[in-house]
Amino acid sequence: MTENISAVIYSEAIQTENILKLYIEEFGKFCFYDAGADMSEIFNTLSGMSKSVFIIDVSVNTKKYLDFISEISSACPDCKIIAVSDSPSVDLIVKVMRAGAKDFISAPVIKSELFDILDKIYNQFKTGGSSETKSRVITLFSNKGGIGKTSIASNLALELAKITKENVALVDLNFQFGDITTFLDLKPSFNISYVLENLNRINSEFLLNTLEKYKNTSLYILADPPCFKQAETVTKSQIAKLIDILKNTFSYIVIDAEAGFESKTITALDNSDLVFLVTVASLPALRNCQRILDLFQKLGYDDDKTQIIINRYMENDEITVEDVEKLLDKEIYWKIPNNYFTLMAAINKGISVAEVNPDSNVAKSYKELAMSVSDMVYRKKLIKKYSSAED
Ligand SMILES: Nc1ncnc2c1ncn2[C@@H]1O[C@H](COP(=O)(O)OP(=O)(O)OP(=O)(O)O)[C@@H](O)[C@H]1O
Ligand SMILES: [Mg+2]
Repeated sequence: MTENISAVIYSEAIQTENILKLYIEEFGKFCFYDAGADMSEIFNTLSGMSKSVFIIDVSVNTKKYLDFISEISSACPDCKIIAVSDSPSVDLIVKVMRAGAKDFISAPVIKSELFDILDKIYNQFKTGGSSETKSRVITLFSNKGGIGKTSIASNLALELAKITKENVALVDLNFQFGDITTFLDLKPSFNISYVLENLNRINSEFLLNTLEKYKNTSLYILADPPCFKQAETVTKSQIAKLIDILKNTFSYIVIDAEAGFESKTITALDNSDLVFLVTVASLPALRNCQRILDLFQKLGYDDDKTQIIINRYMENDEITVEDVEKLLDKEIYWKIPNNYFTLMAAINKGISVAEVNPDSNVAKSYKELAMSVSDMVYRKKLIKKYSSAED
């Protein structure tokens, strides 16, 4: 049902507020709701609405309104926030999106731009929030074993499912020693071998009905095969087709790839939108990363496609982040703190790190990584638009 979705507007500039109100009324699919100008009143109003659109002008008192966006986005998951500013910059866009806004528009507001955004939001509500963007394939890779790929893949995938409420697939491409079922304590009835052997018969309905779910979430697991033999016959085209089929069903596909460059791993990398190259801050691991980055360049991957995660990061590491960035000639995308006890407790209990301790540094890091991934592609598009305007 989309009839009763309200749009709330807040701007310190009366002109902006009036024009937004006018445009909302002209757009016609949302009802303008006057929640006044008191922030706690607006908070209570939005909290009481099941679905809503909130347009907030952050041109002045930016910090205050960014904090307000954060509060609203955590308290009202079904409120789509659009930030407005008369001084758009890449830095500001990154901040508003990180705070939880779904979109950004510059002031003075151009009607057609606002209508495009409102249309997108309206369609998201109509389709139950899914298919916001096309499916994204994210592969965790490193050329070294034991570096943290499975820990990151499983916790990231679970956080993505929790944050977005969309269907997420977690695929174990470690055909010989997959760990995901151990990490999440699952005993699935179907594994990847079965799916690969039946590619022509597999559809969304089958996947959603038969893949093992992690507890009461929208995370679905495609586990490794129980015996080694099944791994030998897998072809590149089967892996490519599998990813294609998964894309029709899941908004995010997180692949836990095997260390090394087997053909099925390369196929997964080729078919990924985003590759997280996982490393630790040690010289051998970093040298390895350098070689992989060279190889990725030869494979023709965009610079943006590969992003570096430093796992087990410690503030007092002998090799600093700056050293790593210099050595790899690339910015570090994410640092996951070293937290042996929380990780071991999670693995030994077969649960996620957030279930062991949601306030731990590592649980927060996985959650924020998932938030960043979930709006990364969209944010990139916006940043591109505004950075070319800044040039
Ligand atoms: N942030 C962290 N802090 C402390 N320990 C960690 C962290 N991340 C992972 N570990 C530990 O590192 C070990 C290896 O992690 P994991 O199994 O995720 O690595 P992997 O790259 O998937 O290994 P493999 O190549 O064997 O599949 C685990 O025992 C895990 O507890
Ligand atoms: Mg692993």
